[in-house]
Order: sequence, then C-alpha cells, then structure tokens
Amino acid sequence: MKALIPAAGLGTRFLPATKSQPKEMLLVVDRPAIQYVVEEGLASSADEVVIINSRDKKVIEEHFSPSPELVELLRARGKDAYADAVERVGNYNVSYVYQDEALGLGHAVHCAAEKTGDEPFYVLLGDVLVPDNNILPAMKEVSDAHGGANVIAVIPLPDDQVSRYGIIDGTQVSEGVWKIESIVEKPALEDAPSNLGSFGRYLLSPRVMEILATLEPGVGGEIQLTDALDAVLAEEEMYGLVIDPTDGFDTGTVECWLETNNVLYERMKARS
Ligand code: G1P
Repeated sequence: MKALIPAAGLGTRFLPATKSQPKEMLLVVDRPAIQYVVEEGLASSADEVVIINSRDKKVIEEHFSPSPELVELLRARGKDAYADAVERVGNYNVSYVYQDEALGLGHAVHCAAEKTGDEPFYVLLGDVLVPDNNILPAMKEVSDAHGGANVIAVIPLPDDQVSRYGIIDGTQVSEGVWKIESIVEKPALEDAPSNLGSFGRYLLSPRVMEILATLEPGVGGEIQLTDALDAVLAEEEMYGLVIDPTDGFDTGTVECWLETNNVLYERMKARS
C-alpha cells in the first residue's frame, strides 16, 4: 500500500516567498512542512511514500537524499544530533512520480496510478500537518470495521471556511463516524450540504484511481479528487472520520501557517 503526497502545486498563496522555493519546503518550527507529511506516511501502514512532484522542485528530492559529506562534517565537529537528523531524513523510503501539467488534485493523484496498482492507497495533502501521526491509523480502523471501505478525514468548519473545502452529506453512524452519501467541491455556503469538510487525508480504493482516469474537469477547470469520490459512491461505501482539530494543522495560507508554527512551537517546548 502506498501513501501519495501531491506536491506539484505552484504555492500561489505564498508568493513571493514561493517564487524560487517550493511551498512544501517552508519551515514549520524545525523541519520543512513536507517532512512532517512524509514522516506521517512512513509511520502509517503504507510501505512506501510517493511524492507527486513537479520537475522544477528537485530541492524536495534533495532534502530526502543522503548527504554523506555533510553527515561526516557534522560528526567531525561533534554535532552528532544534527548528523543523525540529516542521516535519518536522507534515508527515508520515498519515491517520485511527476505531474507535468497543473490540471488539478485529481490529476495529480492519478499520476501515481502505476504505483498504486490494484491496491488501496492513502492520499496526504501537504497543506495539512498531523504531527502525532494518529489520523491515518484511526482511518484504517474505520475502513477495516466496514469491510475495507473508503475513508476520508473531515473537520467541522465555521461558515466562512465552508467554500474552501470538499463538503460531505451523510448520516452519523457512530461516535465521530459519518456514512457519506455525497461530496461536493467548494460549494457556496448556501448550497453546502453540511459544515463537515474533507481535511486532506484519504484512504481510497483502486476504483477511485480508475474513475480519475475518466473524469472531466470540475470546479475551477481542474480535475477534482472530490468529483471522483462522489462518483465512487455509486458503487462503494465511504465514511467520514471527524478528526479532533488539535490533531491536524492547516498550513495552506500564510495566516494558518503562522498560527501552526506558533502552536507547534509551544507544544514542542511543553514536551521538551
Ligand atoms: C483540496 C481539496 C478539498 C479539500 C482541501 C483540504 O482543496 O480539493 O476538497 O477539502 O484540499 O485541505 P485545496 O485546498 O487544494 O484548494
């Protein structure tokens, strides 16, 4: 089973900071944002993390490549803790596929179709950080309890945020678990079927990958993952797991990124 991390976006909301530096490499406390996401994928039941990259973001790949000279230099200077950190991140089991055109999240995910084959797969959006790595295992449990169903993480949203997310319609079947009947990408508040928005973590069946291959562009002219999720509901079950807002941190806007840095820094200090 693979964990897919789409990372080919332009980072428009962070310009000019992301003019020459990928948004995935922006610092969050002590690591680039994407390192949290890779570590979360590696801590899950996935056997490999696949970054769906763009060809001009090689710096992401450099971050996850071995740097023996730097490690040696740090050790020679007695900086073993830094050497260990550099060595560890250079040895993560990460591979890459490329999205050559920015045609949307659904298109990005489909670029990894050959990697996932006929297995279920996770999708982890890089805008959301889960430092305790606890959401994917909880989603897997819900999936296993429902015969291997599709599961997505959802979060209750204030009204002014609803039109930024994929919004579900469904019924609650147990504490924190919703059976999804439909999902719509970025609806206007008055059209939204609920205030539960998908929050960047997905456990999906291979059928979703097949549907993505045939999808027409949706909202914003992009091939939307949300549209494939809505389509698969005609054939398969899907559940929404409501996550605790203190488990997932949005870094998708400058404001959220700053807030996440503050909260995670305080948390790190409290734990050390
Ligand atoms: C994407 C998805 C959306 C989801 C959101 C979560 O939107 O299309 O369904 O709710 O991520 O962060 P984006 O933030 O890329 O516009």
